[in-house]
Amino acid sequence: MDHFEANVAVHAEVDAAIDFGAECPVEERARRPLIASVRRFQLGESGDGQQLLRNAERAGDPEYVRAIGLFVAEEQQHAALLLRLLAYLGGTPMSSHWSDAVFVRLRRVLGLRTELMVLSVAEAVALSYYGGLSAAGPDPVTRAVAARIVDDEQAHVRFQRDRLHIGFADSPAPLRLLALALWWVVAVGATAVVALDHRGVLDAIGYRPTRFVRDVLIDFAGLSAAVLLRRKSTSWT
Ligand SMILES: [Fe+2]
Ligand SMILES: [Fe+2]
Repeated sequence: MDHFEANVAVHAEVDAAIDFGAECPVEERARRPLIASVRRFQLGESGDGQQLLRNAERAGDPEYVRAIGLFVAEEQQHAALLLRLLAYLGGTPMSSHWSDAVFVRLRRVLGLRTELMVLSVAEAVALSYYGGLSAAGPDPVTRAVAARIVDDEQAHVRFQRDRLHIGFADSPAPLRLLALALWWVVAVGATAVVALDHRGVLDAIGYRPTRFVRDVLIDFAGLSAAVLLRRKSTSWT
């Protein structure tokens, strides 16, 4: 919670320093797959979070509801930043995509705990996606936007991890193992779909799709083990 509140000022400063008015120097060959890819992530980041807020409210913890509100606001900032990045690259936003529709529908039928599991898969994917773009994006504006977002996503993964760890604390071992298995199926499937769907931009920045999948799954392995295999822990790193 304190993290989200402190972040507001940091964001304003970092965002103001990104030169969206600069002329885009990216060659057509890299610009096209980058636009196609950013459009999809822009749509993915742009949910209004109503379902998540409703589920959080049902959990009956006002402090958590506030944190979720701030979390949703950060995701909306990501959508806004990607919209500006798209304009800078010369692209336009998209209003719907099948993968987003599946994701939204899936989350709609789930309770808070399962919704957070699905959401955190997307955030583990986001870590490698934005991490790759921030390191090897074709121009300073793309790299700056990606670096700005990946910082938030790292905190988001920790935020979901801690809540999910509490959520499973009292679950019996067989249930946790089943959850772990199903969670992995979703993670591997989603990561493979993203790697295929975004291979154009991954190729353009020299990020091998197999390496991307491996990087996502390494992060996911840490997350899922921390949630479901650690009994009790007080000191997260
Ligand atoms: Fe995000
Ligand atoms: Fe996020």
